[in-house]
Amino acid sequence: QKKGFIFDLDGVIVDTAKYHFLAWKKLAKSLDIDFTEEENEQLKGVSRVRSLEKILSWGNKTISEEKFTELMAKKNDDYLSHISKMDENEILPDVPRILNLLKENKQLISLGSASKNARTILERVHLKENFNAIVDGNDVSKAKPDPEVFLIAAELLHTKPEDCIVFEDSVAGVEAANIVNMISIGIGSEEVLAHADYVFKDFTEISDTFIKSLIKN
Ligand code: BG6
Ligand code: MG
Repeated sequence: QKKGFIFDLDGVIVDTAKYHFLAWKKLAKSLDIDFTEEENEQLKGVSRVRSLEKILSWGNKTISEEKFTELMAKKNDDYLSHISKMDENEILPDVPRILNLLKENKQLISLGSASKNARTILERVHLKENFNAIVDGNDVSKAKPDPEVFLIAAELLHTKPEDCIVFEDSVAGVEAANIVNMISIGIGSEEVLAHADYVFKDFTEISDTFIKSLIKN
């Protein structure tokens, strides 16, 4: 049976949160806003626009629309300068094992990310060829927890939503998968991802047997 396996990117395939943090931190500093790692945690899975809105509200700042657009571009330029140095060493542990296992078993694989830089990152870490479909921030109009990104992925894979399995590190992403009856697999902490059908600390904890059971059921 062919299932659709949909992977989030940031925090699932690669740990880019540290680069988002550096870029947001620099931007916040230029506005005299103190930006902490805990706050950065709350931006996981959150779109670029929404992230800046949140940072501004945490810092009690209001800015013009023009300035907003300018800061968004600045943040992304800075983020891209970090991304440009990435290579396959930054792929999170056992991601290649899971992708290979899925391919050996002729399963369908898609990306389902909020990032507009997803394709660039997949190219940098040389994983792009593994995906039958890529859906990212350029393809959607509604951010997670809206399930749009995963529904488009299911459509491109020609699979029914209930035959899809989603790997996610963000609460919003898990919610998005649950709304459309996809199996949600949280990657991260059990407390944070309590609503996921399954939670694993990382892919090293996911056995081949578990993946094969998902394919069969
Ligand atoms: C998500 C990240 O995957 O993508 C967020 O978890 C990020 O931190 C969002 O803000 C949008 O990414 P980008 O690359 O389009 O700024
Ligand atoms: Mg993520």
